[in-house]
Amino acid sequence: RAGGRALRLLPGRLRAPAARLGSRGAAEAQEDAEVNTRKKTFTEVQTERLEQAERTVLIKCPSRLNEKKLLQYLSSHGKINSHFFFENRGIHALIEFSEKSSVASLQDVVGIPKAVEHHVVPFKSRLFTFTLKNPVAKTAEETPVHLSPQSHIPVNELIQKLHKADSISSQMYILLNEYQLTEENIKLRFLACSLVQDFARAYFPDSTVKPFGSSVNTFGKLGCDVDMFLDFRDAQEHAAKMKKGPFEMEYQMKRLPSERLATQKILSVIGDCLDNFGPGCVSIQKILNARCPLVKFAHQPTGFQCDLSVSNSIAIRSSELLYIYGTLDPRVRALVFSLRCWARVHGLTNSIPGTWITNFSLTMMVMFFLQKRSPPIIPTLDQLKELADEKDKHIIGGYDCSFVSDLSKINPTKNTETLDELLCDFFEYFGNFDFRKNSLNLRRGKEVNKPESSPLYIWNPFEQDLNISKNVNQPQLEKFVAMARESAWILQKEDRTQRMINKEPWGLAALLIPFGKSNTNKMRRTKGMGSETIRSLLDSLKLSNASNLQKAVGK
Ligand code: GTP
Ligand code: MG
Repeated sequence: RAGGRALRLLPGRLRAPAARLGSRGAAEAQEDAEVNTRKKTFTEVQTERLEQAERTVLIKCPSRLNEKKLLQYLSSHGKINSHFFFENRGIHALIEFSEKSSVASLQDVVGIPKAVEHHVVPFKSRLFTFTLKNPVAKTAEETPVHLSPQSHIPVNELIQKLHKADSISSQMYILLNEYQLTEENIKLRFLACSLVQDFARAYFPDSTVKPFGSSVNTFGKLGCDVDMFLDFRDAQEHAAKMKKGPFEMEYQMKRLPSERLATQKILSVIGDCLDNFGPGCVSIQKILNARCPLVKFAHQPTGFQCDLSVSNSIAIRSSELLYIYGTLDPRVRALVFSLRCWARVHGLTNSIPGTWITNFSLTMMVMFFLQKRSPPIIPTLDQLKELADEKDKHIIGGYDCSFVSDLSKINPTKNTETLDELLCDFFEYFGNFDFRKNSLNLRRGKEVNKPESSPLYIWNPFEQDLNISKNVNQPQLEKFVAMARESAWILQKEDRTQRMINKEPWGLAALLIPFGKSNTNKMRRTKGMGSETIRSLLDSLKLSNASNLQKAVGK
């Protein structure tokens, strides 16, 4: 099933891992042929999905429902391209029309609620509630609709599934298939952005709201937040082309002393707008004094936690860079998803900001590790820059952020290592990394001397004087190292066949159980450990107490 889901939902990108899971045949050969067709660039995917989202509506449906009748009714407003149902405080249908005009046609016939107790704000969104005019009639016709899951299975259920695999590599692909965003979930994420965009456009008609971060960088897991940003760039680019004729023409615009202040003002107003008029937008928090000002809110109709900021070019470049890495080789995503899950289980990462390693930093550590393989599995950022052409040129704030966007220009890796080897070597590599002396530089794919004393130093690939893991403190880094060593030890020493026979968790599954609970060999190994490792382990135990958390550090 795992492979099947990947094939259905994410064409191209995931066929290779799915093929590895099953036996080879004609069907797989055909899939392989499709893998070789050109992979879309990041911008192509974004543009396509944003445009789809503008033709999409979300309907809260009656609990008993005749799917065929609903679709038939909606089709009277235009052709439906795709649809699915999901559960989120009641059944919802996402309907993607072929034409944007169908949305307007539907909006024309939708009424405004006659609220007796509440007064409604008459903002007409693309969120509707359908109820049956005659709810008791013809219930026999109503069959349960297929509900598309929007969250992943709990870790304990995952561990059961991992038992049935025949290698660590296939365990990692099972995890990937269970956790990755589905086609449906991606559509819902883009719809959430598009609905926020409707508000932004009430003030700034040329603006767009686009997702970034893990919703689009290929490393998103079901349930992760939607990072979105308000973009005015498209409008500015258009204006630059219009400089013809005898006059220098410009708009009269409000001038503010800094870009930051402008960002804060725009976000503040849009935050208020969502708060006051946005259907289902709740728990709005304006965090305008953070390094990167943002508005946090929960979007109830789609069920997402959202972070809205104003165009942050560097973050978008980071998303595209990770998209490229995640799309180049199927092992990359399988390794990242497994390690993100491992880190979460052992409390190395946390959804609350703090002194923990972030998912973003952890992903960069995996990328660095893959650059260091021999032969490398992914290219360095400098190598990607060499392949860039004129249209890939991006200078942001004086930094050259150019790299190739066309994936077909990047030579596939000659590295054939299995994920079994890569997982074990990741733990070995970082379990023994000289963090006191060295930093991780993804631009060069090299360890370099640390420029300052932060415990963990990962160069921001685009703003070379910044450390993306500045928030990580020494005890957290030591905990990471201790867990990595322990994991390497488990993978190397476990008697896999015996554990399989005994129906005990093995391989990746053994790493996804908190070590104190699972590891019968722990005492034996501790004897051989240096005092430093024991101290790290003790620190990590102390740190699992939430009251010890240091002051939260924002993004
Ligand atoms: P999850 O939400 O944990 O799944 O991962 P994410 O990659 O979306 O991380 P997060 O929501 O924390 O941040 C969203 C994006 O902001 C990231 O993908 C990065 O592009 C960017 N970002 C986050 N933290 C940092 C940081 O410390 N430095 C820089 N330069 N960018 C960051
Ligand atoms: Mg995120």
